[in-house]
This record gives sequence, C-alpha cells and structure tokens, in this order.
Amino acid sequence: MTDKATLEYNGQKYEFPVIKGSEDELAIDIKTLRSATGGITTIDPGYKNTGSCSSAITFLDGEKGILRYRGYSIEELAEKADFLEVAYLLIFGELPNKEQLVKFHADIKEESHVDEEMKKILDSFPKSAHPMGVLSSLTSALIAFNPSTVDVSSEKAMYHAIVRILAKFPVLVAWTMRKKKGLPLDYGDDSLGYVENIHKMMFKKPTQTYQKNEIVIEALDKLLILHADHEQNCSTSTVRIVGSSHAGLFASLSAGISALWGPLHGGANQAVLEMLEAIEADGGDTKKYMAKAKDKSDPFRLMGFGHRVYKNFDPRAKIIKVAADEVLADLGIEDPILEIAKGLEKEALEDQYFVDRKLYPNVDFYSGIIYRALGIPTEMFTVMFALGRLPGWIAQWREMRLNNEPIGRPRQVYTGANSRGFVEVDQR
Ligand code: SDX
Repeated sequence: MTDKATLEYNGQKYEFPVIKGSEDELAIDIKTLRSATGGITTIDPGYKNTGSCSSAITFLDGEKGILRYRGYSIEELAEKADFLEVAYLLIFGELPNKEQLVKFHADIKEESHVDEEMKKILDSFPKSAHPMGVLSSLTSALIAFNPSTVDVSSEKAMYHAIVRILAKFPVLVAWTMRKKKGLPLDYGDDSLGYVENIHKMMFKKPTQTYQKNEIVIEALDKLLILHADHEQNCSTSTVRIVGSSHAGLFASLSAGISALWGPLHGGANQAVLEMLEAIEADGGDTKKYMAKAKDKSDPFRLMGFGHRVYKNFDPRAKIIKVAADEVLADLGIEDPILEIAKGLEKEALEDQYFVDRKLYPNVDFYSGIIYRALGIPTEMFTVMFALGRLPGWIAQWREMRLNNEPIGRPRQVYTGANSRGFVEVDQR
C-alpha cells in the first residue's frame, strides 16, 4: 500500500501524503492542496468525507458497530466502570488508580458551589424556557463568576477549569430541572458518589431525606457512560472550533450545548419519546409513521434511527435496549411505549427503505424510555445527554489545545454575483 495519493487535474499531477491511524484508517493529507494547485480547495457539505483532526480519544467503526474510549470497549466500560472513572479516562487518557480517582473526586467536590448570583440569572427565565437554552446560558454565565477559567495556558490552569466545570455543571443541571418543577434549588452532599450526588440534587424532596435507589443510580451511571464521547460529532466539532479561537472552556461548552440541542443530534432523544407518544395516542399505528418517514414530501423522520457513522447497529443502542428492559422490570414499571418502540424497531429493520439506507436504531432510540422510568421529564432528556457528554467535550477541547490546533476556518466556493457597480436608490 503506497503512502501517497495522486490528484490529476488539467494535465497536472499533484501528490499528497496518505496518513494511517492506529486502527488502520487512511486519510489523504491535503494541507498543501491550495498552495500546490494555485488555489483549488475541496468541498464536502456536512464533512461526510472530511476529517477535522487526528485524535487519540475515541474510536468508532461504523460498519462493525464498534465504539471504544481510549481503547476500552464501550461494552466493558458500561459493565465494569463508573462514570467518574470514564470521565478521567477520556480526559487524561488512562483509567485512574484508586489514589488518582479519590483525588479527582476530592478536587471536584472542592468546587461544587455555584455563586448565589447565578440563581438570579436562572430566575430571569420563564418556566416555559427549554432547559437546553437555560443550560447553555448558565454555562456561559459561569465564566463571569470564574474568570480564571478563561486563560488555560498552563496544564495546571486547564485542570483547574476542568474540575470546576465537572463540579458546577451537575448543579446547573439540577437547578434547571428543579426551577421548572418549582422546587427549591438544592445543593449536593459531599459524602455521596458523583452520580448519586447528581441524582440527589435533581430529585431530593425538600421535606424528605434522600433515599438512594441502587437500580436508579446504576442505570443513570451507565447512561452517562454511554453518552460520554463520540469522536467528531456535531456538538464536539462545535466545542473544538469555538475552542480553536482560544475562547475559554466554558464558552466552548456553552456552544456545544446549543449544537447538541438540535433534533437531528442530541435533541433526538426528546423527539423519539414525543414520536412514540404520538404513535401511542394514534392507537399504536406504527405503519402510518413508517410511511411518513419514507415519504420524501414529508419532513418527518423516524427519530432515533440512522446515523452518520454507524451503518450497523449503534452499540450503545444495543446496551440501552437491554438496560431498558432490566430497569423497567427492576422498578416494576410496565411502559407500553417500550413495546411500541420494539415494534417500530422490528418493522424498520425489515423494511427495504431502511435496509437499503442502513438505518438502525441509534443511542437516542431507547434512552428516553429509561430516563422516563427514572422520573426525568422529557424536556430534560437532552440535558441528560449533555451531562453525559461533558467529559468527552472536555477531553476533545483539551486535546485540541494541547495539540496547538490552528483556528478552524473552512473555505467555500463562492456562487454569488460577480463584480458590479453601485446603483443609486432612485435608479433601481
Ligand atoms: C446523535 O454524529 C454522532 O456521533 C451523533 C451521536 C453522538 O453520540 O454524538 O451519535 C448522537 O446525534 C445520534 C443521531 C440522532 N438523530 C436522529 O435520530 C434523527 C433522525 N436521524 C436522521 O436525521 C439522520 O439519520 C442523521 C441526522 C442522524 C444522519 O443523517 P445523515 O448522515 O446526513 O444521512 P442523510 O440525512 O444523508 O440520510 C441518508 C438517507 C436519506 O434518504 P435518501 O436521500 O438517500 O433517499 O437516509 C434517509 C435520508 O432521507 N434517512 C432517514 C432517516 N435518517 C436518514 N429517513 C427516515 N428516517 C430517518 N431517521
């Protein structure tokens, strides 16, 4: 196999190096394309064929349905690790030993207060505000109360910013949900585990002592691990490109939250539940929704199906589907929505349109069923996705900064008007 690619155009030949990743992925390095060809660039809407960076964090094989964080399979991590361990692994590259994990959690707990003034910003939102918009705003507002997190020119400063956001983000998530429910804005309890503390902040009733439910905490921990990173998806690419201008970590994360909000991306988990509830209200008529999904004149898509990279089962969807059955059984919940989801999946997997386009259930198809069983409101589903994705965003942003990646600035092909003179208004 050669390590060069040749482009021939207009009788000229141009050679470009071919780089190979640690999993034998090949990429043509076109860094010199424009200068070598006197101005020719490439165009690739949605970057379907274009890599933005080299990264050592997450590996996906879309054909084989493989997902690994720093070389560890998602199946093993979901089974054997906890979310804080996985966060450390993604960000720093290795699973922490006991001492490292204890220190990491202690450093996070040190920063788990949020300035009381932040509550005034939260209070300025109407209860009808979508939690993703609130969370993106609060994450950006945090900068004003933590100005030192903007300048991360040293690894020490970067670590400081990282533990601060890992500590404060879950508080903002809990406050966002509690504000909508009209509950007092509770604080965490340093004696609890990281995910247990998140659940306590979200759900503790003001008049009751917090009761830990192992099944719920385990399910939440697993869901957060499954959402923790996914290489260069839309929101991670947003975090990277915003960070490439040397905007601070919190500003980059705030932008990533907004990108994740879209129903084609993280917002799909909310859209899936709304779709399944619509099908249930329609008497379970899945065939009508399948027809809508295939009708090109209808903008409706089968939410939770299809993926830019996975052309096989999304390994996370497989794990979440099994977990959905287990959690509902353990909690003694009969949810007809789960049966509708399974029926829809079966139909789609046997439908030529979906088979031809290699459309399989993705991470968002079943996750909402578990969130619902855990008592999380539908509008908060994408916030839970953001909570899980936080360590992945941080890891990718840190890698981009440590690699001194250049500012992201794609080119374009101009198709507008050619040069023309100004015309006075009474001449137009
Ligand atoms: C996430 O990138 C990541 O890694 C994201 C993510 C992560 O962890 O960060 O995995 C999380 O965002 C998962 C995806 C959640 N979104 C949805 O479930 C929304 C529904 N899915 C689609 O909108 C779509 O599948 C995308 C956006 C996920 C992927 O779109 P692509 O890669 O741009 O594919 P496409 O739109 O070009 O579709 C190819 C064909 C088209 O038909 P043709 O023009 O070839 O006839 O497949 C069709 C599409 O119309 N198609 C669907 C469909 N998804 C694709 N048709 C009906 N229902 C769908 N869901």
